[in-house]
Amino acid sequence: MAGTNVYLGGFMGTGKTATGRELARLTGRPFLDLDERIESRFSMTVPEIFGQKGEGAFRAVEADVVAEISRLEGLVVALGGGAVVDDGSRALLKQTGRLVILRAAVKTIQSRLGAGAGRPLLEGGDLEKLLESRQRAYDDGHDAVDTDGLSPEAVARTILALLSLERAPEPGHPLSLGAGRSAFVGRAILPRWRDLPGAPQERPFVVTDDLTGPLYGDRIGERLGIFCLPRGEAAKRLDRIEALYRAFDACGLDRSGVVLALGGGTVGDAAGFAAATWMRGVAVIHCPTTLLAQLDSSLGGKVGVNLDAGKNLVGAFHQPRLVVADVDLLRTLAAGDYRQGLAEAVKYGLGEGGDLLDEIDDGAEGLVARDGEALTRLVRRCGAIKLAIVDEDEKERTGARARLNLGHTVGHALEAASAYRDWSHGDAVAVGMVVASCLSRRLGLCDDAFVERLTGLLRRLGLPVRPDRPWEAIVAPLRRDKKFEGGRHRFVLPRKGRPSIVEEIDLDDLKKAYEEVLLWSGQA
Ligand SMILES: NC(=O)c1ccc[n+]([C@@H]2O[C@H](COP(=O)([O-])OP(=O)(O)OC[C@H]3O[C@@H](n4cnc5c(N)ncnc54)[C@H](O)[C@@H]3O)[C@@H](O)[C@H]2O)c1
Repeated sequence: MAGTNVYLGGFMGTGKTATGRELARLTGRPFLDLDERIESRFSMTVPEIFGQKGEGAFRAVEADVVAEISRLEGLVVALGGGAVVDDGSRALLKQTGRLVILRAAVKTIQSRLGAGAGRPLLEGGDLEKLLESRQRAYDDGHDAVDTDGLSPEAVARTILALLSLERAPEPGHPLSLGAGRSAFVGRAILPRWRDLPGAPQERPFVVTDDLTGPLYGDRIGERLGIFCLPRGEAAKRLDRIEALYRAFDACGLDRSGVVLALGGGTVGDAAGFAAATWMRGVAVIHCPTTLLAQLDSSLGGKVGVNLDAGKNLVGAFHQPRLVVADVDLLRTLAAGDYRQGLAEAVKYGLGEGGDLLDEIDDGAEGLVARDGEALTRLVRRCGAIKLAIVDEDEKERTGARARLNLGHTVGHALEAASAYRDWSHGDAVAVGMVVASCLSRRLGLCDDAFVERLTGLLRRLGLPVRPDRPWEAIVAPLRRDKKFEGGRHRFVLPRKGRPSIVEEIDLDDLKKAYEEVLLWSGQA
């Protein structure tokens, strides 16, 4: 096969779009509709473009969009009926993928098109003549498939077999979110989210950010509306939530509606908060796109936004109806964003004991390379741990959730001391875990080998292990920590097996452990 895309061409009414969607679902490939891309370039519908700009303008942009799409890989693309007529475009399509022409008898086409509404070339024209004029191009595909009497799914299955395409892996057994709701983790599952058990029939309102939306918005399929938040913490502001409410209102999102969060933890927190409060609560589906969001923030039901006075000060508990964690999406994450999630995974490994830390250690190279199978296992294991803890302590009353705070005391202090500029959360937690392990060793709760193993693993995952500033710089933020009262601190300390929550940590012991790590030389 020349390239990796599958292009579906052929006359109008042969079912290119419906078949393309089915083929994308069966293979787990992203789906693109050429006419939709052209419409979004003009911000007009196809009949409007023909009416106001003329066919020439439409064809020029069509050729341009064909060139753009042909640079991408691994797609299923439904072409417009005329896209393959241009010799240059057809040659490009054939070079960069497999061109499959869908065929149907004139009678079938006539009955599928009905009165021809929305098909500008048929208005006042002759269908048979138009078909004849394009026949030379339609005979020049790599393959042709007759669609008469077949459903789009049956045609898609025929193409799957014809091209020997790889089927999408099965989504696998989901994690239970309670009350019959599930979290699915796997490869290439986002394009198939509607087929997952528990997926609602309603078209969702998609909330995303202005990078994730363009990258993956198409994989959601039909939607009630879409709203792009700015990237990062700028999404978690009350004025953004207000703008989101206005967009919900404009689309008529009512109490039976569904909000779908497509993005990292910031999008999930903001969209989840808007869903929790819109009309006193509508359903939310999380489609997390960062490692941190997949193994942590999309699970557990905490949603919220920031105030100037602090992070996550306004929020709610709102459990998702469905979580769809497609690990293939993690390939496009920037390295710095990706490793933040790895730090959380190590925290789960330390926090729960068992063999998770061994698994991360043994599979570190695969995780750094973002291997799909290794990531599926990691997200599932961490997700299961998070859900078990949430189940034990949903509203943070029994203290079980406190184990998830391992490394956070020093981590938060480092983030705050740099005014949240120099330290990302996961990086800071990684250093926090190292300091906590040194403190644990001082108190006789773990040995040298444990500390060395942890720091070695963090380094292999590309995470920092040393703070960048003196103890004096973090004392003020540490003193403001709510777990710190009267000079003594409640601390989660790692050790072999489960970590301990030690109530009476002396600030001086913490200082010694911090300075010990600060003085480490070499590779950090
Ligand atoms: N609700 C909870 O229980 C919980 C738990 C932990 C953290 N959080 C929150 O999560 C937030 C951090 O989330 P995050 O680390 O996911 O950061 P994020 O949402 O800011 O995403 C990081 C960056 O990655 C980009 N991105 C997202 N997916 C991508 C992809 N697949 N490819 C390329 N780029 C992509 C985003 O545009 C963004 O710029 C914080 O606000 C934190 O408070 C919430």
